[in-house]
Parts: sequence; C-alpha cells; structure tokens
Amino acid sequence: MFEKFSFIRTGKVGGQERLAGSLQRVPVHVAIIMDGNGRWAKRRGLPRIAGHREALKTVKKVTNEARRLGIKVLTLFAFSTENWKRPKTEVEFLMKLPEQFLNSYLAELIENNIQVRAMGDLSLIPAHTMKAVNYAIDRTKNNNGLILNFALNYGGRSEIVQAVKTVVRDVQSDKLRSDTIDEDVLSKYMMSRALPDPDLLIRTSGEIRLSNFMLWQLAYTELFFTDVYWPDFNEGNLQEAVREFASRQRRYGGIVEKGSEKR
Ligand code: IPE
Ligand code: IPE
Ligand code: MG
Repeated sequence: MFEKFSFIRTGKVGGQERLAGSLQRVPVHVAIIMDGNGRWAKRRGLPRIAGHREALKTVKKVTNEARRLGIKVLTLFAFSTENWKRPKTEVEFLMKLPEQFLNSYLAELIENNIQVRAMGDLSLIPAHTMKAVNYAIDRTKNNNGLILNFALNYGGRSEIVQAVKTVVRDVQSDKLRSDTIDEDVLSKYMMSRALPDPDLLIRTSGEIRLSNFMLWQLAYTELFFTDVYWPDFNEGNLQEAVREFASRQRRYGGIVEKGSEKR
C-alpha cells in the first residue's frame, strides 16, 4: 500500500508550502534512534530519569511535525533488547513512559488521525505498560493518518532470529516451500512486515552506530546523525534531516542516467 507514496512532493501536500522549494522529497518512513536523554540530564545536574521525562515532550513535538510534513510512518526506538542491562530503577521508569505518554496524548493522537503500533518482543514488557499500549493500538486502529510505531524491547538480531525460527516452523508444517524463500518472503516474517523499509534513519546524541536497530530494514536507508540530544531535538531539527534526505541521491547499487537526477 505504500509503494505509491515512494516520494511525495511537498508542494502538493497540505501545510507544506512553507518548506516547498527547499524540501523536494519527503521520506515515507522515518525511523529515529532517540538517544541522549541521560547526557541531557547530566549536563543539567539532573538524574537520568529527568532526561527520559523530557524526552516525551520531544516525542510529541516530532510526531506532530512528522504528520505536518506528510511523513507516513514514524518508528521510534524506545527500548532495546539490550536496555535491560540498565539499573532496575531506570528500566522501571522507562517502562512507565509509554503509559505516561499515552495518558497525556492519546486523545490528541486520536484527534489527529494517528495510528499507534508497537514492534518488539512485547511478551517481556510489563502488563501495566502493555495494557496502555494495547488500548492505544485498539483505539487508533481505524485511523489512517500517520503511523506512529514504537519499537519496544526491540532488537534487530533478535527479530531476524525470530523470523528464521518461524520460517523453519512454516517449512516443516508445509505452509512454506523452502525454494520460494527470497528477500520479499523473509521481509514478511519481520516485525515490520506491514511497513515499507525506512527511507531515513535519524540518530540523535552524536553516537554514530545502529545499536541493533532494524538491521534488516536499514539496508538502503539514508542515515542522518546529529549531535543534538533527544530532549533538545525539535521541529527544526526534523526539517533539517528531511531537507538533507531530499538532497541525497539514492542509487540502490545502480547508476543514475544523466538528465534524470532530479525527479
Ligand atoms: C535514550 O537515551 C533512551 C533509551 C535508550 C531508552 P539514553 O538513556 O541512552 O541517554 P544517554 O545515551 O545515556 O545519554
Ligand atoms: C539505543 O540507544 C536504544 C534506544 C534509543 C532505545 P542506547 O543508548 O541503548 O545505545 P548504545 O548503548 O549507546 O549503543
Ligand atoms: Mg544512549
């Protein structure tokens, strides 16, 4: 369903005129590694959790701006399979954030036609968190605006392992023929199966790594790294990333014929 959106010209999308000209193409799917909450807090002499609390405001700002820009899918890395290594108190605090976010903003998400989704090994997420997440998913399931996809207890390698296990099970039960397995088939076994691959990945806080995020899906994604800590990231920073995306030439291993560079 997303192929037809491959590139959206800003001039034609409501509310985007202000950016038209500088912003030629809007990515369909933007994925963000929201990093730097702890350092943001430390810089202010505050406990790490103060950074996580502040981060929610950025999630709200960025969601609204993504919607305004005409982005169709926004995937936010909220908790990785490796984040369990953190102190118990911090993990507990992080697990309360989805509830806090949804308690404060669900009404607005509904009003803005946003559809909430979640991906990751959700079986390990505490029941109180999942109750809020599932409620939001259910309440917004018929919305057809921006898809706001939270990666919770998500790990790229774990996702691939899970996909392989399910493929093996389906082959053994004759649901799948092994000679039909190709990249498209395997993609259907990933947690992101209903979504196009991200066009643009943003990571905040100055770290230049993927930290096990969407390893399969990011194969040809444009990467954007910024030193800004996530709690400081704002609408202008998202616009800057999208503008940078628009200036990139995606070749997917091919070549671009002279004269056809600009779409
Ligand atoms: C990102 O901020 C939030 C999560 C990983 C859950 P961090 O908590 O990693 O902040 P830094 O990287 O320590 O500054
Ligand atoms: C990645 O950030 C995970 C999330 C943003 C949820 P981390 O802070 O956990 O990554 P590393 O440890 O710096 O690689
Ligand atoms: Mg970090």
